[in-house]
Amino acid sequence: MLTIPVDDFIHLRLLEMSHAPALFRLVASNRDHLRPWLPWVDRMRVENDAENYILRSLGRYSTGTEAHFGIWFHGMLAGSITVERIDAWNRVAEIGYWLGREFVGRGIMRRSTAALIDYLIDRRAINRIEIRCTTANVSSQSIPLRLGFRMEGTLHQAAYLMGRFHDHLLFAITADEWKRRKQGGGAAMREPAAPAPHAPT
Ligand SMILES: CC(C)(COP(=O)(O)OP(=O)(O)OC[C@H]1O[C@@H](n2cnc3c(N)ncnc32)[C@H](O)[C@@H]1OP(=O)(O)O)[C@@H](O)C(=O)NCCC(=O)NCCS
Repeated sequence: MLTIPVDDFIHLRLLEMSHAPALFRLVASNRDHLRPWLPWVDRMRVENDAENYILRSLGRYSTGTEAHFGIWFHGMLAGSITVERIDAWNRVAEIGYWLGREFVGRGIMRRSTAALIDYLIDRRAINRIEIRCTTANVSSQSIPLRLGFRMEGTLHQAAYLMGRFHDHLLFAITADEWKRRKQGGGAAMREPAAPAPHAPT
């Protein structure tokens, strides 16, 4: 299965059926943390829902429209990062992500997103990468902002979460911009690897 190395401690691996129990446990123990931002959390009620999700995502990977990766940190499933809305004609793709609460605040997502962008540009010839975040989700916005994305505008009422509509901020970066930023050695590219984890609760 496709694996993307991030650093000595982190790698991304395409989600496969054997990951369903770990995925379900991580979601089940993080519902309150994830629910405000992700609409599908309460639809993953039993392990079989995680299996069905992985099965669907593998189907979409085989048709080239999506790719759903687990983020592995010191051998533990820490969260997920996905490539969605892959538009092969225009070479555009969107990245989405989440982490279990115990893995937040270690730079795991910034590094994982940077590695995935490298992969999409260098190996999949994607030219434009988008990230959408609700206006209230400051933590999520910090990822594209730290990686040099441009905030291109507001998508009004683009998300329906917790019973009401929310605006999305649209962030984007092009392959040229990403390469220039890497050549310039942006701070987000240079920092050391993530520290060892605390035991997850
Ligand atoms: C969004 C999410 C993945 C971010 O995780 P994270 O652990 O904060 O990400 P990282 O540590 O890799 O990087 C975030 C950077 O932004 C900073 N940051 C995080 N939250 C911030 C905040 N509220 N305000 C300002 N800066 C913030 C961090 O300090 C870090 O900077 P650094 O790399 O200089 O240390 C995590 O909060 C999460 O899973 N949230 C719930 C699900 C979710 O919202 N998904 C996105 C839906 S659009």
